Amino acid sequence: MHVHSYEKIWLALGLGLILLLIGSVTYGAVGPGVSMVAADQPTVDPTALDEDDRFAEPRVEQVGENEYEAYVVAFQFGFEPDPIVLPANSTVTFMVTSRDVTHGFEVVGTNANTMVIPGEVSTLTVETGGPTEYGVICNEYCGAAHHGMEGSIEVVP
Ligand code: CUA
Repeated sequence: MHVHSYEKIWLALGLGLILLLIGSVTYGAVGPGVSMVAADQPTVDPTALDEDDRFAEPRVEQVGENEYEAYVVAFQFGFEPDPIVLPANSTVTFMVTSRDVTHGFEVVGTNANTMVIPGEVSTLTVETGGPTEYGVICNEYCGAAHHGMEGSIEVVP
């Protein structure tokens, strides 16, 4: 009898823990500030990127003294522009979208990393530092050539 009631307690505790876990995961998925694609991010029509000011011609644009915006389109299987040429020692906000399926945008060797979802514009801001080169990889499975989906960043003087 004792054994049984202990079992029930542990079972209840375990169940409670699982429910708590599910609750936190569910809340995390809908809660603010968890996903890198914030709810207030502008949306974009992935089938009409050629009519969008930013993504019709993916490029880097100067928006302040040392501030730039990089409009990047991810697609099966690459990134545009490639290379993404950025001035050294500047602040760059990447705005990345996809024209087909969900991709990743990860600047190798840095903490710059975001999911790229069709219809959404993922933004992330970096400091470029000195002149160098970076690889860009896709870290979301996106099809047969996912593992070969690469881009590059050149930070120039
Ligand atoms: Cu794009 Cu994996």
